[in-house]
Amino acid sequence: MPNDFNQNMLNTIKRCEGFIIEDEAFKKGFSEIYPFTTENISGYIDFFDLKDKSLLTVGSSLDQLLNAVLFDCKDITVLDINPNTKHYFYLKLAALLELNRKEFLEFLRYKDFPKVFKDNYQVFNKTLFNEFKSTLRLLDYESYLLWDEVIQNYESRKIRNRLFSLDEERTSVIISCNPYLSSETSYLETRNKIKKVFPKFITCDIEKASLDRSYDNIWLSNIGTHVDLNTLKKIVDKVSQHLNIDGTLLISYLYSTTISTKYQDDWQEIYNLDETFKIFAEYNPTLKDFLGIRDFRFNFDSQHDSVLIYKNKKNIIT
Ligand SMILES: C[S@@+](CC[C@H](N)C(=O)[O-])C[C@H]1O[C@@H](n2cnc3c(N)ncnc32)[C@H](O)[C@@H]1O
Repeated sequence: MPNDFNQNMLNTIKRCEGFIIEDEAFKKGFSEIYPFTTENISGYIDFFDLKDKSLLTVGSSLDQLLNAVLFDCKDITVLDINPNTKHYFYLKLAALLELNRKEFLEFLRYKDFPKVFKDNYQVFNKTLFNEFKSTLRLLDYESYLLWDEVIQNYESRKIRNRLFSLDEERTSVIISCNPYLSSETSYLETRNKIKKVFPKFITCDIEKASLDRSYDNIWLSNIGTHVDLNTLKKIVDKVSQHLNIDGTLLISYLYSTTISTKYQDDWQEIYNLDETFKIFAEYNPTLKDFLGIRDFRFNFDSQHDSVLIYKNKKNIIT
């Protein structure tokens, strides 16, 4: 029987060849890695106290992790259903350590790069990869084996289209949403800080996860926009048991929504804010909005995104 890594390596190769692999991630619609976040993390990161605190987050793009590192979070666990999340972390980490910000973007960006309506045929460029792959090998041998096999043997556009989501914003949006990419200084600061951070990875469906510790912050990304409200409630009931006193839980990221947004019947359930506040009443959550992805993408300032947040306040005994 192949072990988990070998099985995943075989599955990843099959995917590069164009086969569909019906694993758990595929069944949930998340067999593709997100190359970059699709959230305005810059908009919500200040709502969380990350400095010297712990974080449990989902996110195969690893941008949640990289931004948390810049904000001095050192104890990070990434839980994601996508089995290549850990391997993508080490590829992104090796690139961050060895490439400058321009090369980092050239190596990882694809859609609308270097210009809008262009695709970057130099994505996962072999020559650039060969320049830093020895670092990847030192960081994590399995990740090195996987990416070396893939990048040496498959056309870069096939790797990008078959392993990664096409849900990728333009460079200007990605830079605005990610503090770690917002300037040369923050890129280099993240590079320095990450040398002292050793994240843990859990590959599983969060609906089935059994956690063995607690965290100061938990980020559920926008899983809430992909599941029904009852399922999200079950996830929140479970993970909130692992939220420390005074900890903060990001229940869900919501696109183009503020507290006054009127629900329309064809939207996902979570956007029905009356129902959402009813089902989460015991958590007394707050909805905080900020510049949204569409505000950046189209230069609007009327399409704010929001995060639904629960704060585990200490019981005050009077
Ligand atoms: C909802 S997706 C969308 C991308 C996200 N907005 C971002 O910026 O990263 C967020 C992440 O959740 C993961 N995910 C989705 N459903 C999951 C589940 N049931 N258990 C664990 N991870 C899940 C996906 O693999 C993906 O990496």
